[in-house]
Amino acid sequence: MISIICAMDEKRGIGKDNKIPWHIKDDLLKLKSLTKNHVVILGRKTYDSMVGYYDKTGRPMPGKIYLVVTRDANYKPARDNAATVTSVESAIKKAEEQAEEVFVTGGAQIFQQVMHLTDKLYLTIVGGDYDCDTFFPDYSDFRKVISEESRESEGHKYKFLELEK
Ligand SMILES: NC(=O)c1ccc[n+]([C@@H]2O[C@H](COP(=O)([O-])OP(=O)(O)OC[C@H]3O[C@@H](n4cnc5c(N)ncnc54)[C@H](OP(=O)(O)O)[C@@H]3O)[C@@H](O)[C@H]2O)c1
Repeated sequence: MISIICAMDEKRGIGKDNKIPWHIKDDLLKLKSLTKNHVVILGRKTYDSMVGYYDKTGRPMPGKIYLVVTRDANYKPARDNAATVTSVESAIKKAEEQAEEVFVTGGAQIFQQVMHLTDKLYLTIVGGDYDCDTFFPDYSDFRKVISEESRESEGHKYKFLELEK
């Protein structure tokens, strides 16, 4: 089973200048609890961005194993619990050998390539428009609402939304 986890603004914006342009601790805790002890697939740009963020906080990255998708076979992930994979297909194959539910956590290029294989979306819809340069793909095929919860913290209004096809 393949699940996507993503936070986006009202325009489906997910990032700007290779960073997430909001900080919502509650949402990071959700990512942490969903990916705890799981295999996570993510693009090289998102991985580098996450490492930069977690280096600053000094905290370990959530998730048990990271499979970093890159076309550069010589790429060396910055942290020990990560391996390089050179295609999205090999990432999924490798992840499915290790876990029943595989989480894909971005970014846009990787979401775009796994959407058709994805069973479930764990979305956070953040109120507002953050002038993003990177966007989540159209997800109108995911019509079944599994759960929906409005929240407010740190001056942000947002919604946790779980969808299936
Ligand atoms: N809001 C959220 O929940 C969220 C989540 C994740 C990311 N983001 C944001 O999204 C942005 C990054 O997304 P992005 O789309 O620019 O980059 P990305 O998807 O994270 O990574 C793109 C990289 O993945 C590799 N790649 C892509 N397709 C591949 C393929 N078929 N085979 C092998 N390698 C492949 C390439 O790496 P190489 O260049 O090394 O070859 C490519 O440059 C950032 O702003 C980040 O903060 C937001």
